[in-house]
Amino acid sequence: MIVTIDGPAGAGKSTAARGLADHLGYRFLDTGAMYRAITLAGMRQQIDWQDSEALVRIAAGADLTLPDDQVFLNGEDVTQAIRTFEVTSLTHYAADNQTVRQLLVDLQQEIAAHTDTVTEGRDQATVVFPHAECKIYLTASDEVRAQRRYEDLLSRGEKVTFDEVLSKQKQRDLRDLKREIGGLRKAEDSIELSTDGLTTEQVIQQLVQIVRGRVTDKNQV
Ligand code: C5P
Repeated sequence: MIVTIDGPAGAGKSTAARGLADHLGYRFLDTGAMYRAITLAGMRQQIDWQDSEALVRIAAGADLTLPDDQVFLNGEDVTQAIRTFEVTSLTHYAADNQTVRQLLVDLQQEIAAHTDTVTEGRDQATVVFPHAECKIYLTASDEVRAQRRYEDLLSRGEKVTFDEVLSKQKQRDLRDLKREIGGLRKAEDSIELSTDGLTTEQVIQQLVQIVRGRVTDKNQV
């Protein structure tokens, strides 16, 4: 069974998807981490970001694995290194590159092919797993999302202001929404849940109810 969780940055997708996967005993797949890892590889090789072929070569040659909630790039644990403000700001080059997207979509489908998976991203319900049994669209208000990201960056020792985070988030939302293929869109058959005012535990509980509801519906068909 595949459960997709899509939504804008900072809606709480990763924490919720991880918690839901733990609860169900499913694998958790963080697809944003893949775009981040390719971006980190590009940064390290100091590529010209306008050179889309260079990024394709990096993605095609990358050995990307995501075991147990970690991210390995060519054998190196980059779980923390992909979370910086700089990586976040540059990730749109990988996300906008259609060949890079196709390579990562293939990898995502391969990873989830034989394992029950909770997968999170922007295009999981619409492009990558259109036949997923359960699709969820997670949202939250702009301020709540920016506050979460701000606190997360501060806890990692980054020096940023709330206004910077909010303004970058608006830019990112716009890019995610405008991306023609793989952009942020709610699938027609997705169930929307706003995480505003909910604790992580409450979000996970609601997600568990949604998944259970879907499983029951399917069994009755
Ligand atoms: O979710 P996260 O913020 O880690 O994603 C990093 C970036 O990767 C996002 O800004 C988004 O543009 C891109 N992304 C994407 N498709 C996905 C997941 C993430 O384009 N499935």
